[in-house]
Amino acid sequence: MDSDVLTRQPGENAGADAVASRPAPSTADPLWWRSAVIYQVYVRSFADGNGDGTGDLAGVRTRLGYLKDLGVDAIWFNPWYPSPMADGGYDVEDYRDIHPQFGTLAEAEALIAEALALGIRTIIDVVPNHISEQHPWFQAALAAGPGSPDRERFWFHPGTGENGDGIPTHWVSSFQGETWTRTTNPDGTPGEWYLHMFTPEQPDLNWNHPDVRREHEEILRFWFDRGVAGVRIDSAALLIKDPDLPEVGEKEGPGQHPTEDRDELHDVYRSWRAVADAYPGTRVLVGEIWVPDIDRFTAYLRPDEMHTAFNFDFLARPWGAASFRDSISQTLAAHAPVGAPSTWVLSNHDVTRPVTRYGREDTAFAFLKKRFGVPTDPELGRDRARAAALLVAALPGSLYIYQGDELGLPEVEDLPRDLIEDPMHYRSGGIDPGRDGCRVPLPWSGDEAPFGFGAAGTRAWLPQPAAWSALTVETQEADPRSTLLLYRSALRLRRELIELADAPLAWWDDAVPGARDVLAFRRGDGFACVLNAGEDPVALPPGEVLLTSTEVDGSLPPNSAAWLRLQTPPVSTTNTPESSAPRG
Ligand code: NOJ
Repeated sequence: MDSDVLTRQPGENAGADAVASRPAPSTADPLWWRSAVIYQVYVRSFADGNGDGTGDLAGVRTRLGYLKDLGVDAIWFNPWYPSPMADGGYDVEDYRDIHPQFGTLAEAEALIAEALALGIRTIIDVVPNHISEQHPWFQAALAAGPGSPDRERFWFHPGTGENGDGIPTHWVSSFQGETWTRTTNPDGTPGEWYLHMFTPEQPDLNWNHPDVRREHEEILRFWFDRGVAGVRIDSAALLIKDPDLPEVGEKEGPGQHPTEDRDELHDVYRSWRAVADAYPGTRVLVGEIWVPDIDRFTAYLRPDEMHTAFNFDFLARPWGAASFRDSISQTLAAHAPVGAPSTWVLSNHDVTRPVTRYGREDTAFAFLKKRFGVPTDPELGRDRARAAALLVAALPGSLYIYQGDELGLPEVEDLPRDLIEDPMHYRSGGIDPGRDGCRVPLPWSGDEAPFGFGAAGTRAWLPQPAAWSALTVETQEADPRSTLLLYRSALRLRRELIELADAPLAWWDDAVPGARDVLAFRRGDGFACVLNAGEDPVALPPGEVLLTSTEVDGSLPPNSAAWLRLQTPPVSTTNTPESSAPRG
């Protein structure tokens, strides 16, 4: 046994075996993204390779074998650029380098290549709506003063009233509070105001300026040249603002909101698509689009715009067969005309972990209602989160898994207040717990913190609960009933079962005759997924049980799901419009 094997921790790189057992993805496969499983790595909290308490690229590189064993096709990395971290890295100082705490550009290049050798593509986060106040463009704009060309790359504006001390608009920030901050002129007098849809440390760029457009297209090329397979586009529906600066509601009608979902955005993404399409192997554009009107949402997915966008409608829905079915049906129907696959997302670095969310009385997600001290039933939440994982893994389209959901991690709701860094927390005056509770470093092994996240004796940047000793990768790898092994089995079957590749979905209305709160669908003739979202056990439909989220004994318990191999095709199904025709 060599020393590498002796020192390898659970989930650490499986090395050469891993390479041999799964071929590198072919850059010639133009459709890889349509049903891909994409794992979201929040670098800061994934694995700490150098023992400073912060996750880093060295840590990710030692754990690639874990991701390969999990069965993912791609990794989406949250922003990894140099940043003052006013918003967890979504305040970018330099889009062409790596944050020194995370590593170097050379390490990122090595990581991209090593992941690809294991069959895993890399998607990076681009942040086009705003930059860091420390970015050279903004510093130059501040120094140059009012009326300067440097300021035209941003939204600088005089204030209202005689002294210019009135705010230019009353647009509300996604992080609550005002969206304009007043500057001080180089001579010390009060100056213009600048726009920031998020924190004051994140000034918004002016997308009507040619420099801004050119710069971002060059950033895309910079990373595509380094082998990244796609970009996740942050705040993708916010880039364009109405230059008249009307208040919200002053102009009515679709596309008339002053800061959101404006029609001019589509030109931006058409240009980006042309940049991406110039590369071999399909470089994908994935939009972070919070637009409630589903037809306006899918308009971004027309064949010459983005490839996919996060399906937040499903994520926000309350637990229940009817609400899930409604969301799935609407999603598939709206995607079909544009030929784009839907995405399925249970959580990410911004939202409450499913185990906690689904254990609450109110299981729907909304940012503004987040509060401390909302009771949750952890066992109920865990059962539902496992069932939901099987449900979404069986749906047509691509699947996103946020790091730690495969371990069934709960939201950490008792972080010491003085350690919370998220601006959503402190901009709410401390009422909103913020998002750090889903960003706590992962537990890999051992009985005490930092649970293999970093070397023994180091302290992770956010404290991990002591109870996470029961949720480490090491513990779960040894437990056949663990959430980790459920995810591994589901992703392996998803890869093996031909129906789950691209077969359309058909609702199976009488899978369990007379049962309420059951959701069942078929993919092709031979596969079915049944979710019991109700409070009573229901009879399992006939068929070979392939996988279940909990132990079953002839019946499907409440809050559980099963995958079945059907012997004879069911007779009663409802077809759903589905985007099964591959698009190049
Ligand atoms: C969406 C990102 O997911 C979130 O984390 C960030 O705070 C905002 N966009 C602003 O960049």
